[in-house]
Amino acid sequence: MVFIGTIQAHFQEWFAAQQAGFSKVMILTDAHVHAHCLTLFLEKSGLPPETPVLQIPAGEAHKTLQTAGWVWEKMLEARLDKKALLINLGGGVVSDLGGFCAALWKRGMRVVNVPTTLLAMVDAAIGGKTGVDMHYVKNIIGTFHNPLAVFVDPDFLQTLPLHEKRSGFGEMIKHAFLASDTLLIKAMHEGAGSFLPLDAANLANSISVKTDVIAVDPLETKGIRHLLNFGHTFGHAFESCLMESGRPVSHGEAVVAGMLCEAFVGYIKGHIPLEQVMRLHAICTSNNLYPQLPLQKDDADPLWRLMQQDKKNAHSEVMVCYPDVSFSYEKGEKPPNFFPPLHVSVDRALMQAALDFYFECYRPGFSGQVLNA
Ligand SMILES: NC(=O)c1ccc[n+]([C@@H]2O[C@H](COP(=O)([O-])OP(=O)(O)OC[C@H]3O[C@@H](n4cnc5c(N)ncnc54)[C@H](O)[C@@H]3O)[C@@H](O)[C@H]2O)c1
Repeated sequence: MVFIGTIQAHFQEWFAAQQAGFSKVMILTDAHVHAHCLTLFLEKSGLPPETPVLQIPAGEAHKTLQTAGWVWEKMLEARLDKKALLINLGGGVVSDLGGFCAALWKRGMRVVNVPTTLLAMVDAAIGGKTGVDMHYVKNIIGTFHNPLAVFVDPDFLQTLPLHEKRSGFGEMIKHAFLASDTLLIKAMHEGAGSFLPLDAANLANSISVKTDVIAVDPLETKGIRHLLNFGHTFGHAFESCLMESGRPVSHGEAVVAGMLCEAFVGYIKGHIPLEQVMRLHAICTSNNLYPQLPLQKDDADPLWRLMQQDKKNAHSEVMVCYPDVSFSYEKGEKPPNFFPPLHVSVDRALMQAALDFYFECYRPGFSGQVLNA
């Protein structure tokens, strides 16, 4: 259940209805969120100020088994039983790690997510994927463990730095591109080069795309949930390559670049019309909303090696998944909120062409002429 709006409006009522069921409540958060959001959350939630808080250091580097071990130690010290509730207050690192710890604690304790980054509000806190990284391989150890509820309160975004907003907005652009209801993408196109207002209505629209996809493929067994990976085969490779070479970029910035590349692949394969690719291009690059990633031409080989290791690959082929945006539903059929997924393989030559297209996207005056050629 995802509640969108002020915590006062939703959490207190929800908690009052559940309270008899929790033996204890514990909050997991990170150092930045502790500083910026904990007091606000305690005030808004009505939980007592003495509610126990576990604080981990901020950042992806701490989404590890070692930190999970520390959390379990603290849970043991606090004698948390199966009837306790863990509240994950923070970004995707906290909800991934906390969800993972809760999933394994006594074979599963209950958890709620209170996301404080835009990325966690529209993506990471929703859908039950939890996990930790190992040796810099992201999310390699993990499990599904659905939160009892997610409380999305845009007030927490007030202290979020701009580059973190840009990261989360990348996932909102992705949801808009996946949505068969074209209102969201139209609104983004009209305001190209700026964020949509990050209010409850726009967050709800974006979140509904993810929840609708998950509703039909909760455990990623039908190939439909892969839609949410649009932009991520190229995007993860960009993120890792730039991280390894000391030029780190945020997840959302890498995904935006990945979406441009994968939309190009869709165009070449005849599935995504030029108009849609150019719409995505306008949304992402106008006003320099997403500046060009610090990639160089000779990054192509390391990028290809990274793409060959992608979790989504099948039978040694590099796979990408994008929405079939030209799909039209049978008359009378109620269309779902998203386009159906298309899974296609990419070889080295097509990967290179997509990368070249990405560089072209940032050439002054670019208007899609490469695509017409
Ligand atoms: N489980 C999923 O389905 C899923 C989906 C997408 C991403 N993820 C994971 O999410 C993680 C990224 O999430 P993220 O971008 O939220 O990163 P994050 O949790 O590291 O948060 C980013 C930074 O913002 C700080 N912060 C959080 N809220 C703040 C606030 N309100 N004010 C000021 N600072 C604040 C954090 O302390 C951190 O320094 C990655 O580990 C990724 O793998 C998971």
